[in-house]
Amino acid sequence: MVKINDNYLKLKAGYLFPEIARRVTAFAQANPDAPIIRLGIGDVTEPLPLACREAMIAAVHDMGDRNTFKGYGPEQGYEWLREKIAQQDFQARGCEIDASEVFISDGSKCDTGNILDIFGKDNAIAVTDPVYPVYVDTNVMAGHTGTANEKGEYGGLVYLPITAENDFTAQIPEQKVDLIYLCFPNNPTGATASKEHLQAWVNYAKANGSIIFFDAAYEAFITDPNLPHSIYEIEGARDCAIEFRSFSKNAGFTGTRCALTVVPKTLKAKATDGSEVELWKLWNRRQSTKFNGVSYIVQRGAEAVYSPQGQTEVKALVNFYLENAQIIRDRLTEAGLKVYGGINAPYVWVKTPNGLSSWDFFDKLLQTVNVVGTPGSGFGAAGEGYFRISAFNSRTNVEEAMRRITQQFKL
Ligand code: MLT
Repeated sequence: MVKINDNYLKLKAGYLFPEIARRVTAFAQANPDAPIIRLGIGDVTEPLPLACREAMIAAVHDMGDRNTFKGYGPEQGYEWLREKIAQQDFQARGCEIDASEVFISDGSKCDTGNILDIFGKDNAIAVTDPVYPVYVDTNVMAGHTGTANEKGEYGGLVYLPITAENDFTAQIPEQKVDLIYLCFPNNPTGATASKEHLQAWVNYAKANGSIIFFDAAYEAFITDPNLPHSIYEIEGARDCAIEFRSFSKNAGFTGTRCALTVVPKTLKAKATDGSEVELWKLWNRRQSTKFNGVSYIVQRGAEAVYSPQGQTEVKALVNFYLENAQIIRDRLTEAGLKVYGGINAPYVWVKTPNGLSSWDFFDKLLQTVNVVGTPGSGFGAAGEGYFRISAFNSRTNVEEAMRRITQQFKL
């Protein structure tokens, strides 16, 4: 009989968000009239910016005319989009990133998983705890870990706890690790990183020959002018970091699909024979072989984000969700709950009341007030006793969810 990839058997039964959806569906089937409000998965609710829609409509018309029709595009993305990203997202912030180092893709979730294709199997890998589960699960699938213990921690991974005590920023490890996943503004805790903190990581990576995977999917939510948006704002990062970005959360592209990954040409790693290899070449080879690019129509929509109108509309969208986050923070604080994050980030990280476990709090909120959040333990063992509330929803739903929760938990 054909053999499977046994590594999949090491995975916990369900990916976190489908598991939440399963529980919510079961509850909704048993309680068809329950007015459920979903503040679990960070999925946007507000319409796409008009600038993006108009650009996509124009692109559809291009596809209807033989003279402007497009077949396969470049696997790396169209030059006109890569140029705008390089200029406006990076060079405008003083980051030395060239358009040729920007790879357009259909999502940061895919890219943070796919990037493992170009790395060997024997790297020591560090993740924060709690962490976006994709980083861990894709390493399990790739056979980079042992099995999970009863807390759900996989053998072979180095877990860096992020807690209220360290302001949800991991301590630089004592031991040498090769690949380090960092996400700022952080999913799930909503924490941010100062330039000094990122500089310490870059210094560590350079001293140890490590590579940082920097997930900046939520950078648009940074309002504090002192916080870095990109790892490349940090001296030396071109030699040790790959950055992932997305149009999902700033421009509402979760259902439209467009993202980007930056692989600087200066980034190198070692082959088994000891020679140094440019990672850009490997990623370019990987993408050209396994990926045929994002649709022309969607890339035109993404390009419109960089127009003056697009910039104004995207800022308004981001501000809208940030106001939701502020409402969540204020109401939960008034109710006596301890909250973190949600200031330069769309996620509010809440300490569960009365020592409830994360899943018990999840069930309680679902059953008593019909509000869905995400149990902190789903992001890792150190997330136990916490709960994530997403600010991605309509104002009416956020207000109503907070009204119900505060009535239930008012001290
Ligand atoms: C989340 O809720 O953590 C995100 O929506 C997940 C994602 O962006 O894939």
